[in-house]
Amino acid sequence: MATYENPRLVLDSSRPPEPGKVAWRSPSNIAIVKYWGKRGVQLPQNPSVSLTLTAAYTDMALEYALKEHPDPKIELAFFFEDRPHEAFQSKVAAFLESVTPIFPFLRQLKITLRTANSFPHSTGIASSASSMSALALCLCSLEHRFFQTLPDDAEFDRKASYVARLGSGSACRSIYPYAALWGLTPALPGSSDECAVPLDTQLHPVFKSFRDDVLVVSAAEKAVSSRAGHALMEGNPFAETRYAQARSRTVRLLEALRSGDVEAFGQIAEDEALALHALMMCSQPPYLLLQPNTVAILHQVRAFRQETRLPVYFTLDAGPNVHLLYPAQHADAVRLWVENVLKPFCENGFYLADSAGEGPKEL
Ligand code: PMV
Repeated sequence: MATYENPRLVLDSSRPPEPGKVAWRSPSNIAIVKYWGKRGVQLPQNPSVSLTLTAAYTDMALEYALKEHPDPKIELAFFFEDRPHEAFQSKVAAFLESVTPIFPFLRQLKITLRTANSFPHSTGIASSASSMSALALCLCSLEHRFFQTLPDDAEFDRKASYVARLGSGSACRSIYPYAALWGLTPALPGSSDECAVPLDTQLHPVFKSFRDDVLVVSAAEKAVSSRAGHALMEGNPFAETRYAQARSRTVRLLEALRSGDVEAFGQIAEDEALALHALMMCSQPPYLLLQPNTVAILHQVRAFRQETRLPVYFTLDAGPNVHLLYPAQHADAVRLWVENVLKPFCENGFYLADSAGEGPKEL
């Protein structure tokens, strides 16, 4: 696959572009088969599959103007919810610096990024997938505006997914509507470790409106970051077994997504959630991100399923919050149960009702 490095993408300063702006809204995603463990430059040890969400998104606007004096340093002002944010600013400036071989024109610009999330800050809902995918889309839009190099939508998305991956692995899957796969698998020709591929054409309609209620058990910052968690997989004695397990679950999940087998989908989702946290518990050093209320909710989900025979399943991210997955047709029954039974397990009673959706939109 192309590395996308392109030294020719340099602006002609004798014909400077007018100052302008590009903007994208990009959603978060929830992995069903999890990416946990990486190699090389943000390459996954196993394929992963996710649903692209709707309600949890980042809006990002990138304003640009040509620098008055040439200076190769990235010039960035970063505003999060209308306020300067130094920690994000230095992280994003370092990321922009790292992608200058792909977008050399970034060195010629004064850039202002303004971002906001649809979900309240400090809810423990991760924003790296939505924000890094929004940023990658803005960079590709900028390239196309200046050089008309990305007229083909599929090629535009592929490059955006590749660039998003460099910012945050799971972000590469947010580029595509409804569902996406990232990582090489014999079950899908065209799949790649370097970017995600869309699954929407292979999806049974039941998954296009699938619900995901995010039950926020704790809004506190995680004790161990995802970055550290990925790194700990290197010494994990179960690593190779885990990667093989994820590969075969990917094949089975793709079949379930095509055929509309909600039960197989749900079983894989739960097995993957527990495997992810089991890997953390047997890392060296081991750690535990599940809270008592997380475990209580998992038991409630299984009891509710047994009692009602409704296809409601859980999954977990690398944190204590629980994602409830179920077909949209059961939304009323599930809502009643969430309100009456599960809400008390959530911090400040907070949960976010989300669902699979159409993917990013240019603003
Ligand atoms: O994209 P990262 O580096 O934040 O890792 C994400 C890892 C999980 O959310 C736990 C799983 C996944 O595939 O999204």
